[in-house]
Amino acid sequence: MKKVVLAYSGGLDTSCIIPWLKDRGYEIIAVVGDVGQGDDFSKVKAKAIKSGASKVYCLNLQQELIEDYAIPALKAGALYEGKYNLACALSRPLIADHQVQIAKKEKADGLVHGCTGKGNDQVRFEVTYRLKAPGLEVLAPVRVWEFKSRDEEIDYAKKKGVPVDASKKKPYSIDTNVYGRAMESGVLEDPMVEPPEDIFYMTVDPRKAPNKPAYVEVGFEKGVPVSVNGKKMAPLPLVLKLNEIAGKNGVGRVDMIENRLVGIKSRELYENPAGTVLHLAIREIESLVLDRDSLRFKELLSQKYAELTYNGLWWTPLKAQMDAFFNKYHEHTTGTVRIKLYKGTATVVGRKSPYSRYSEKMATYGKGDKFDQSLAEGFIKLWTVPFEKHS
Ligand code: ARG
Repeated sequence: MKKVVLAYSGGLDTSCIIPWLKDRGYEIIAVVGDVGQGDDFSKVKAKAIKSGASKVYCLNLQQELIEDYAIPALKAGALYEGKYNLACALSRPLIADHQVQIAKKEKADGLVHGCTGKGNDQVRFEVTYRLKAPGLEVLAPVRVWEFKSRDEEIDYAKKKGVPVDASKKKPYSIDTNVYGRAMESGVLEDPMVEPPEDIFYMTVDPRKAPNKPAYVEVGFEKGVPVSVNGKKMAPLPLVLKLNEIAGKNGVGRVDMIENRLVGIKSRELYENPAGTVLHLAIREIESLVLDRDSLRFKELLSQKYAELTYNGLWWTPLKAQMDAFFNKYHEHTTGTVRIKLYKGTATVVGRKSPYSRYSEKMATYGKGDKFDQSLAEGFIKLWTVPFEKHS
């Protein structure tokens, strides 16, 4: 019998995969990655066994997700199509990597995921498999099995003794981890429909947020967030804290039409309270401590980094090279940013750094001006030379 390792969520798809593969002669080991989706993992593990898995691993990957995936992407300023903090995209190479490690330990013959053939996640899983465990068989049952609808899957699950807790109707497809939440399908498929309030979970309705603004100070050291309101925190608790503070003020909602790798445009809703504050804050320190050229150059790489991450190319040379660049780039991204949160908005209201290049003496229009304005005349003459007609 061939042994395979399945990335298991406890949802209907991955639960049906277990008997479906068993009937085709496979032994299935399930791997559950706890990335902060808030499930009852003892129930998830029991469900995997009930569905027919021979063994289940449940791994807490929250800290690793934030420290080794979210923070590098934050340092890179990576926002896909300028909006999406990539929370879901970052979790896939992490889960797939652990799945591969378990497959090696268990001397398995193959790797399985429950992604559809229309999305990005299949690519993120399989690129990781191919690079980290070449030679292992890759199985994606959802792309090829006979079920044409959720109802057919539910009927199959019941027949096979798979516990079914979902009702036949499932209004949205949701993916959650500590760094954000993604919602799609159902009524959201009409891009003109305003998202119903009941899809949100990490952020309150801005209309119901407090009537007084909340201020939050985020401290950074070399591009890594290290404190909230003066209190030192490790990255994971810091993200959880910012999720809470920003979420309470309705901050972190994104509604976008995005371009999937497979070419489809899709409408996705995101909630990423901590990510919204952190991206805003880090950029603010950068603008204080870095020179103009570095800032401009970084923007080119941010877009590239976001695309690589979105497109499943996390484990590639260019991504590693860009991380090296960003470590150097953030040598002086140390300081504090003060942000005002108010009814769904986050606004920077103050910033400071021991490495600030900002000089009040150079900028002032008041007393103590150190800028020699008489030099401007010559500068502008030379600046124009390339565009003048010379005979
Ligand atoms: N579109 C996002 C991505 O590709 C999220 C995918 C999962 N979304 C969902 N609602 N299940 O990273």
